[in-house]
Amino acid sequence: MIQRPRGTRDFLPDEMERRRHFEGILRDTAKNFGFREVATPMFEESELFILRSGPNVLKELYAFKDKGDREIALRPEMTAPVVRMFVNGMSNEPKPIKVFYFGQCFRYERPQSGRYREFFQFGSEIIGNAGAATDAEAIALAAAMIKALGLKDYRIRIGHIGVLRQRIADAGVPKERTAEVLQKLDKKLYDEGRPLMEEMGVSAADIDDIFALTETVGDVSVLSKVPGEAGDYLRELVSLLEAMGVRDVEIDLGVVRGLDYYTGMVFEAEAPALGAEKQICGGGSYTLSELFGGEKVFSTGFAIGFDRILLAMEKEGIGYQPEGIDAYVIPVSDDVRVKAAEIVSALRAAGVSADIDIMGRKMQKALKYASGAGARHCVIVGAKELEAGNVILRDMSTGDQREVPVKDIAEQFI
Ligand code: HAM
Repeated sequence: MIQRPRGTRDFLPDEMERRRHFEGILRDTAKNFGFREVATPMFEESELFILRSGPNVLKELYAFKDKGDREIALRPEMTAPVVRMFVNGMSNEPKPIKVFYFGQCFRYERPQSGRYREFFQFGSEIIGNAGAATDAEAIALAAAMIKALGLKDYRIRIGHIGVLRQRIADAGVPKERTAEVLQKLDKKLYDEGRPLMEEMGVSAADIDDIFALTETVGDVSVLSKVPGEAGDYLRELVSLLEAMGVRDVEIDLGVVRGLDYYTGMVFEAEAPALGAEKQICGGGSYTLSELFGGEKVFSTGFAIGFDRILLAMEKEGIGYQPEGIDAYVIPVSDDVRVKAAEIVSALRAAGVSADIDIMGRKMQKALKYASGAGARHCVIVGAKELEAGNVILRDMSTGDQREVPVKDIAEQFI
């Protein structure tokens, strides 16, 4: 038997319906905030991701040569593609450009619960403006999405990668090696970060100071420890968020992010119940457009790990009842099959979701099948009732049955 590739999943109808339902909630929330949907290709020229995504993403890139010898990669994320799209065709549009997207991304990771090689992101980007108001808009949307899904146990942590980058540069880390150091700090691998920075000539005092900076965590009051303009900036951001009703945020200067392109504010949301793969959302401000041949444009965005947030919701018991169907039509014998086809078709045309037995099942089996398919009613088409112009309408929750004229059948469902 051929199996699906490692780290991928199939979604059966119940699961797919649940996913579409919650995806719809995210889409509605994004629209409610004035964002519009875009889509980009699932594969791009590898270069797009090599330019600035950083070592973490590169080692996981699904890259190959196509038949025309072009270097192609399946997208590991969608920020770079959206910015490329902006440079290619939207750069003259009035700013800011507020877009959202939903789709699969690919990373060659070691699969485990909450970590897949093909996974789905629901993300958004605000392109064309830098500032606390832009960052607040992005974080407020992320918070509203998480809330709209009904998740209770989560944390939003906000940091500023600019502060850390500056401190690392001041300590003497060469620019081209910043990513290596940030990678250690992201994972809090201090034991590995120390010798790495020592080798680059950073003093022990500076190293301690950098580690202390990444441990600057707490409520808004810790901002008094954040040096310079970044502290003022984050204070302004937090007060905007408060005004927008987002009060449950924490400050954490240890938020580093796994991608290389962030320049200022960075944030993450996590659902502690998920354990190791608890990060359900990540984002921040960045500039990428100048790398792709456009002007330098400031942007802020984030992406929710759709699969992960669904897992977190499942752990909290946030269920979803499949919609089922309004009616299941059962022809009692072969001679009424044409009439039954006419009836199911009239129901469908009237907007009533309806299915029909095409297996020729006996009544008990047909009713059982209908119940399994979540039918709220069965329309039983029998020769005897038809003679009087009627069918039997059965309420599947109570088992009550009554005769209804065929011509009035659709009305019963309004
Ligand atoms: P990211 O943190 O790499 O950021 O990914 C966003 C989210 O995708 C993560 O928080 C996580 O929930 C989910 N995710 C990542 N890898 C996997 C995986 N292998 N399996 C399941 N879920 C996963 C970005 O991709 C940025 N483009 C976000 C952004 C948008 N920044 C600015 N704009």
